[in-house]
Amino acid sequence: MRVTRITIFGILSISLFLNFTRAQKPVYLDVKQPIEKRVEQALSLMTLDEKVAMCHAQSKFSSKGVPRLGIPEVWTDDGPHGIREEVFWDKWSGAGWTNDSCTAFPALTSLAASFNPQMALLYGKTIGEEARYRNKNVLLGPGVNIYRTPLNGRNFEYMGEDPYLSSRIVVPYVQGVQQNGVAACVKHFALNNQEADRMSVDVEVSDRALHEIYLPAFKAAVEEGKAWAIMGSYNQFRGVHCCHNDLLLNKILKTDWKFDGVVISDWGGVHNTDQAVNNGLDLEMGTSTNGLTTDGTSPYSEYYLANPYLRGLKSGKYSESVLNDKVRRILRLIFRTTMSADHPFGKFVSPEHSEASRKIAEEGIVLLKNNKQFFPIPVGKYQKIAVIGENATRSLVIGGGSSSLKVAYEVSPLKGLIQKYGKDHITFSKGYASGENEYNKEVGSQQNADSLINAAVATAKDADVVLFIGGLNKNHFQDSEGADRKSMDLPFGQDKLIAALLKANKNVAVILLSGNAVSMPWVNEVPAIVQAWYLGSEAGNAIANVLSGEVNPSGKLPFSFPKKLDDNAAISFGQISYPGLDGKEEYKDDILVGYRWFDTKKITPLFAFGYGLSYTTFEYGKITTDKKLYTPDETVKVSFTLKNTGKVDGAEATQVYVSEPKATVMRPVKELKAFKKVFLKAGETQTIELEIKVKDMAFYNETTQSWTVEPGEFVLRNAASSNDVKSSVSIQIK
Ligand code: BGC
Repeated sequence: MRVTRITIFGILSISLFLNFTRAQKPVYLDVKQPIEKRVEQALSLMTLDEKVAMCHAQSKFSSKGVPRLGIPEVWTDDGPHGIREEVFWDKWSGAGWTNDSCTAFPALTSLAASFNPQMALLYGKTIGEEARYRNKNVLLGPGVNIYRTPLNGRNFEYMGEDPYLSSRIVVPYVQGVQQNGVAACVKHFALNNQEADRMSVDVEVSDRALHEIYLPAFKAAVEEGKAWAIMGSYNQFRGVHCCHNDLLLNKILKTDWKFDGVVISDWGGVHNTDQAVNNGLDLEMGTSTNGLTTDGTSPYSEYYLANPYLRGLKSGKYSESVLNDKVRRILRLIFRTTMSADHPFGKFVSPEHSEASRKIAEEGIVLLKNNKQFFPIPVGKYQKIAVIGENATRSLVIGGGSSSLKVAYEVSPLKGLIQKYGKDHITFSKGYASGENEYNKEVGSQQNADSLINAAVATAKDADVVLFIGGLNKNHFQDSEGADRKSMDLPFGQDKLIAALLKANKNVAVILLSGNAVSMPWVNEVPAIVQAWYLGSEAGNAIANVLSGEVNPSGKLPFSFPKKLDDNAAISFGQISYPGLDGKEEYKDDILVGYRWFDTKKITPLFAFGYGLSYTTFEYGKITTDKKLYTPDETVKVSFTLKNTGKVDGAEATQVYVSEPKATVMRPVKELKAFKKVFLKAGETQTIELEIKVKDMAFYNETTQSWTVEPGEFVLRNAASSNDVKSSVSIQIK
C-alpha cells in the first residue's frame, strides 16, 4: 500500500514536474524558431496590461519587458558619438557609476567629411560594440537631418547638406551597429533642421524637397541599412507633431518603405493619446517625468501611451490590433537584439576602439588652405611653435546636449602636439576664454579678454610659427542642442585675436574645431586653414598626425561654407523661411539646399561642398561612360583615370555630379550621384569606376507622387568638389 502510494505520488510529481517545465519552458525562447514565430508566440501569451506597459518608458532611458515571460527590458542610450554615461532612473544627471566612461568617436560631420563608407562601417561596428558591452540594445543615433543653415545648433551631429552623401554614410553606420545585436535608432524623423523652437515649429515643405532632400538618408537607412528603430522629431510637419504624424510614419515610413522596426518618440515629443495611438508611434519616451516613478505630477503610468491608452482600449475606443502591431515591433526589436542567439559580447574602450576613433578622425580632417606648403610641419622643422586658443585644451566631448559624453580619456590638441613635437618646442597661450558650459544657459567668461590677447600676442611674437586652435564649442548658442547659433561669426572675440596675432607674426595657421561653418574675415590674411571638427578621444593625436604630415589629409567638406550668412538659401528668404514666423516655417529654399543653391544662383561660396586639399596633387582624366544611350532600368558605368602627381602618397574623394539641362521641371545645376575615395601612391595612376543607376537621376514628380526619369540628355561630370569640375560627358535616356 505504502509502495503504491509512493509510486502514485512519484508518478504524479513527475508529471506535475513535466507539466510545470512544459508550462515554464517558453517556446518562443527557442532560438531556432524564426523571429516572426517567436514574436507571435510571445504576443499570444501577453495580457493587455503587459502589452501597453511595453509601449512607454519606465525610466529616462528604458521601457518595460515582460518579467513574467522572461522578455527583457529595452535599454536605449545616446548616441551618436559614444555611449552616454548611466543617468539616474528618473533624472538626466549622471548616476556616478565608475565603469561607464566610454571612447568618444568623431562627431558625424567629421565622419561625413571622410567621404568614406568604410569609415562609417568601422564607426558603426565599433560604437555598436561599446553599446553592446554596456548592455544597451538601442543606440540613439545616427542623426541624418540635412544641414540647411549654418545656424542649426545640432549640425555637428548630422552628416551634412547632401542627401546622397548622407545616405551612403548612414547605411554602413547602421549595418555596423546592428552587427552587434544593437539597434540603431536613426533620428530625427523628419525635418528637424534647427533647434530654434524645435518643440513646436510647424514646417511646410514641398513634397519634392521632402523626397529629394530631407528623406533620402532616412529611406536608405531603412531600406538598405535595415534600421531596427527610428526616432520621431520634435517639430511639426503640416500641423502635426512628427512623433505622431500619420503621413510620415504610417504612410511613408511603414507603408511605402516597409519599415518593420520600432518608431520611438523623441524625449517629450508626444502630445496626444489619439494621435500617438493611431498615427504610427510605437514607443513613447521622455514625457516629462521628473524625479518620480509611478506617482507625482507626470508619472510613467500617465504617459499618453500608458493608462490613458489602456482605458481607451478597455472602453473599445482603440482597437487591440493597432496595439498588437506596436508590440510586435517592440518584440521583434528585442528578439533582434538582447534575445538574439548570436550577438557578440561587445568591447569597451579597447585599444582597437582608440585606433578606430583616431583613423576615422584623421580621414575627416579637411585642409582648406595651404599657401606655400605651410603644412605639413615635419618634426624638427621649427624650434618654437606657439599654440594659441582655448580649443587646444578645452574638452570638446562634454556639452552640446544629449550627445555629451563621459570619456575614458581625451587627447587634447595641445597634448597631441606636445607628444608629436616635444614639450621644449611648444608654448601655449589661451588667447580667449569662452566661459562655463552650462546646460541651456549662456555663461560668459570672467577672464579679461585684453590680457588674454596680450599674453597670446607676446607668445606669437617669439615663435617661428603660430597654430591658432579655435572655432566653436559645445556651449549654449554654439554647437549645441536646444538653441541655434546667433550668428555665423567666430565667438568669444576670436576674430579680434586672430587679427592681433597676425600683426605679431605672419605665420599663423587657423585650425577650427566646430561642426558648423564660420565666417572668416581673415581668410586672405592667414596662410593655412584646417577644418578639424570635433574629433573625440583621439582628437589631439589625429590633428598632430595630419599637421606633421604623418597622415596626408583627405577629408572633404560635407556642407558649403558661405561667405556670409545671407548667402545661405534658407536664410535669404527671411524669417518665414528661417527660423519661422508665428510658429510656422516655410522651406522657401525648396530643393535648392547647400551647393544646389550656390550653383543655381551663381553665388560663390567661401569653400564649396566636396572641397578639401591634400599634401599631394591629383590629375583627373576625362570622364567616359560605357555607352551613350540608356533605358531607365539600366546602370551607367562611369570611368576616368586619377593620377597622384605629387611627391607623397595620398587619398582623393572623387565625385560625380549629374544634371539634366533641358528638364521640364526646375532642376539644380548639378547633384552628387556617386563618389569614391581612392588611395594612390606618389606617381600612381588608377582607373576609377563608378556606377549610377538611371533611376537615381529621377526627380520627384509632385503630380504623380512618384519618381520620374525624363527621356533626353543628362550630363555627368567628374569633379574634385562641387565647384571644381574636371570634365563632362553627355548621355541620352530613352
Ligand atoms: C534629443 C535626442 C536624444 C534624446 C535622449 C532628446 O532631447 O533630441 O536626440 O536622443 O533627447 O537623450
